[in-house]
Amino acid sequence: SIVRRTSTSGASYVSRRGLSSGSAPERKVAVLGAAGGIGQPLSLLMKLNPLVSRLALYDIAGTPGVAADVSHINTRSEVAGFAGEEQLGQALEGADVVIIPAGVPRKPGMTRDDLFNINAGIVKSLCTAIAKYCPNALVNMISNPVNSTVPIAAEVFKKAGTYDEKRLFGVTTLDVVRAKTFYAGKAKVNVAEVNVPVVGGHAGITILPLFSQATPKANLSDEQIEALTKRTQDGGTEVVEAKAGKGSATLSMAYAGAIFADACLKGLNGVPDVVECSFVQSNVTELPFFASKVRLGKTGVEEVLGLGPLTDYEKKGLEALKPELLSSIEKGIKFANAS
Ligand code: NAD
Ligand code: LMR
Repeated sequence: SIVRRTSTSGASYVSRRGLSSGSAPERKVAVLGAAGGIGQPLSLLMKLNPLVSRLALYDIAGTPGVAADVSHINTRSEVAGFAGEEQLGQALEGADVVIIPAGVPRKPGMTRDDLFNINAGIVKSLCTAIAKYCPNALVNMISNPVNSTVPIAAEVFKKAGTYDEKRLFGVTTLDVVRAKTFYAGKAKVNVAEVNVPVVGGHAGITILPLFSQATPKANLSDEQIEALTKRTQDGGTEVVEAKAGKGSATLSMAYAGAIFADACLKGLNGVPDVVECSFVQSNVTELPFFASKVRLGKTGVEEVLGLGPLTDYEKKGLEALKPELLSSIEKGIKFANAS
């Protein structure tokens, strides 16, 4: 059965009964960084997705083991592991969706931007290969800082002559997942029914949850909304501190990444009304990239949806995030063009 989604509802092919392929078309998904903290559980979740027919797991090392392990699961997709740069082309060839959780995670005291120096280069080289081997794939960028790695990817694709803004996505689904969880807890509503758009970017104050548009409605006070906003913005740091040097969110991120990739696959397959928040090229504000609700379709982004009505508090948050977000975007563009 096909699950239709009309908003940022997320959830849950994982819990859907029956994992038969039905008449779903052939789809290849590649995970780059598949042996990592996110990559392994994300590979597992993609193996459970009946829309996937081929799953390519790539990392600099360790993927033969992850692939052998995951491949024993009795679901539709054929799994193959690829290790080392010389196998990257094979991993990418024919991919419909490429998910990128490659790169270093934060330790306590670091910002996402502190990861730029290492991850920018990783993303640049992976995107150069994507332009060469699967220029038509939808790219789901997870590697941080997302506010800069997405612009880097865009510049790499532009230089290669393959850029299509409809096919490049910064994955901000974890912000939506968190906003839903925290809102349901405070509003005392069924978490499975909650929808909350989260817009802006994916770092600190650039993460702007729009709780005024949350459903089901609840009568939360201004103080409660501010506390929920702050907790959503600091959700990543909450996990980084709890893991105390052992990395950042991996399991909740794998879940969020699987939800977003599933939405991309549904869009490609022509399922109507697939909407998720994502950091994409955008005209919603004056910034060249911005996260908002996006309708997904057969060629990727079908429509970037507007922000809807904002409260004064949300309007203030929107203005406050623009300078930081713009500077992260420009940093990415500059890096891609300088190196
Ligand atoms: P990790 O260190 O556990 O795993 C990263 C993996 O990337 C490793 O297996 C490593 O070998 C691999 N890698 C490094 N260079 C590579 C290359 N050139 N090609 C292919 N693979 C390469 O880290 P993690 O916890 O999985 O986090 C990965 C990234 O995801 C980090 O940048 C982190 O900040 C980011 N992240 C983003 C979000 C989000 O919401 N977008 C959420 C959580 C984490
Ligand atoms: C997150 O939001 O959990 C990720 O961006 C990882 C991090 O560094 O916080």
